[in-house]
Amino acid sequence: MASSQASSFGLKDPSLVKFQGYIDGKWVDAQSGETITVNNPATLETIGTIPEMGLAETKQAIDAAAKAFPAWSTTSPKHRHDLLLKLYALMQEHTDDLGRLITIENGKTLAEGKGEVAYSASFMEWFAEEAVRTYGEQIPSANTAVRNVVIKQPIGVVGIMTPWNFPSAMITRKLGAALAAGCTAVIKPPPETPFSALAIAELGIRAGIPPGVINIVTTQKNVSEVGREICENKIVKKVSFTGSTGVAKLLLGMSATTMKKVSLEAGGNAPFIVFDDANIDEAIAGALACKFRGSGQTCVCANRIFVQAGVYAEFAAKLTEKVAAFKIGNGLDASTTHGPLIHARAADKVKSHVEDAVSRGAKLLIGGKGPEGTSFFEPTVLSDVPADACLNQEETFGPLAALTQFTTEAEVIELANNTDVGLAGYFFSRDVGRVWRVAEKLQVGMVGANTGLISQAAVPFGGIKESGLGREGGHGIEEYMNTKLIVFGGL
Ligand code: SIN
Repeated sequence: MASSQASSFGLKDPSLVKFQGYIDGKWVDAQSGETITVNNPATLETIGTIPEMGLAETKQAIDAAAKAFPAWSTTSPKHRHDLLLKLYALMQEHTDDLGRLITIENGKTLAEGKGEVAYSASFMEWFAEEAVRTYGEQIPSANTAVRNVVIKQPIGVVGIMTPWNFPSAMITRKLGAALAAGCTAVIKPPPETPFSALAIAELGIRAGIPPGVINIVTTQKNVSEVGREICENKIVKKVSFTGSTGVAKLLLGMSATTMKKVSLEAGGNAPFIVFDDANIDEAIAGALACKFRGSGQTCVCANRIFVQAGVYAEFAAKLTEKVAAFKIGNGLDASTTHGPLIHARAADKVKSHVEDAVSRGAKLLIGGKGPEGTSFFEPTVLSDVPADACLNQEETFGPLAALTQFTTEAEVIELANNTDVGLAGYFFSRDVGRVWRVAEKLQVGMVGANTGLISQAAVPFGGIKESGLGREGGHGIEEYMNTKLIVFGGL
């Protein structure tokens, strides 16, 4: 059964497709025998099943990670560097297959799927290089009788919970840092896109990562109890999550019971600002990349597009013309520029944001609908979106470009910051003074100044306000380490 299911994915290496969880170095089913059905969002057809695991398997995975921790955490950083680089090389070698897996389970186009594999693998490369640079410190003491030294130590077992919008990269951004630091991990991938996670575990085996270091628990129905166990189990020392602000707050509360270290990358509502002095063609290219990447399903997508009065009409016309050339369809089809959303519910949410804005006076320039009962929604542009439109306070997470006109810099800064979240923000201007002023004033963790794409393994990714806690990528290995002070006396 599993091998015929696997061959239906059409991979060159079908053994990358796994239909079981992975605990203590073994591929395992749920103790209950129950399974979850996974669908292709483009066709709504079933692509395979994975185990519906629960509390018992989560505890087993945590225990396995704890058992593997002493040996893994005391390997040399160079050893971990070498294994992570092997994993990086394997991910690159299997880019076509891993990209196809992403397209089949997430819906994004094959070009985007392969692009995600490159992005995902880059975290393994980056953190391999970070593994050997977890320097401590020697701190001069006011007391001549002692010497102060600070060392960094791996924090322990890490719980990793990831979203479906980047089935591979959101895992490696956390797992790469955790493994490099010397931590072991229990991963709960989303039920919509588990296969990329399981393929990473398979490549981890091939790279030589020992049993128990990576564990994967798959669940859908039991997600609350699995999440609670990961957050409340004393053995787990750190939780890293990417997903909605609502769930991030719940996990933060649960993690408080054991005072766990947390990294939470939660929702955004990114402003994208175009000033009169911008290079309009560059601003259009930035808006298209930023807004419609993954069909608008990224936490850093432009959600509110503010355009200054002098260039508003030109920007709206050019953006609409470009969007008209988009073609939605199955991501495996080479002519498709934009795939479906993750499921029909996601398409319904975009529809509700369009209808809400239009009912309050916004104008529909293009798109605005999707075939009923499918996951597809047309790339859409709205103009004259009023301040009270729902999308100004709530992330749309779909292919909806919502334009609002403004007149002054002060006005747009106020509009941009008028939200409880602050993940990413973007603006286009050729005035160097304005570039500094606006970059400093936007209340976000990440700013794109004259660019719509900011994501890279080397930079600190994360938000302020209710967009989360901690930073991933960049020096994010620190989030997986304890800082220990040793004061040497008796000299
Ligand atoms: C996200 O949507 O959460 C991640 C986006 C990115 O890494 O670029």
